[in-house]
Amino acid sequence: MSDLIISASILSADFANLGEQIRTAESAGVDWIHVDVMDGSFVPNITMGPFIVSTIRRITRLPVDVHLMIDNPEKHLQAFAEAGATNLTVHIENTPNIYRTLQSIHSLGCRASIALNPGTPANRIESIAPILDMVLVMTVNPGFSGQVYIPGMVLKIDQVRSLLVEQKSAARIEVDGGITELTLPEVSAVGANTVVAATSIFKYPGGIAAGVQALRKSIA
Ligand code: DX5
Ligand code: ZN
Repeated sequence: MSDLIISASILSADFANLGEQIRTAESAGVDWIHVDVMDGSFVPNITMGPFIVSTIRRITRLPVDVHLMIDNPEKHLQAFAEAGATNLTVHIENTPNIYRTLQSIHSLGCRASIALNPGTPANRIESIAPILDMVLVMTVNPGFSGQVYIPGMVLKIDQVRSLLVEQKSAARIEVDGGITELTLPEVSAVGANTVVAATSIFKYPGGIAAGVQALRKSIA
């Protein structure tokens, strides 16, 4: 499917060689660079902030897909936008004024996306669908790369797709967690058109380029 966007999550990259790893992924044909921001509160892990986004912005022209797994994300939107984020994804579980938050993301000039944890039902997107550019369906519990994909999420991806069709929304459906050449075909079949991959790109046994190729080939 030519419509597939691959968003390479640098969480599994070798940070001692980040520039080179991103350039290799770009040459291998990834479409976006995915940055997992974690605060040790909303999720158990602590990772990166706006500084990394601005560093990436200097390395590549690819869109930067920022996934905010932090409490009070609205306090940090401007910093990430100024650092060069293209997409800003916030979680629905900890964002009570979600409509306002999505509007703020747009007013900062970024694309606005909402993420759903594995335990969050698809219908939570119903009243915000018209202003969404993307829905991110988590296919693992957020916090770490290298986890095993939860197969039951296929049903939710399908429900999200139906809700978006009903509302005539063109929002993309992104999946994140445990996506490999083995799991990509089943999420793609139910409507996921944007995939995040960390391990299956940056830790692919045959190298980054082979990992990207294997993902694309799996649904060719
Ligand atoms: C998990 C992150 C993911 C993670 C994916 O909380 O949101 O983006 O990096 O890693 P893999 O592809 O290894 O499951
Ligand atoms: Zn992510």
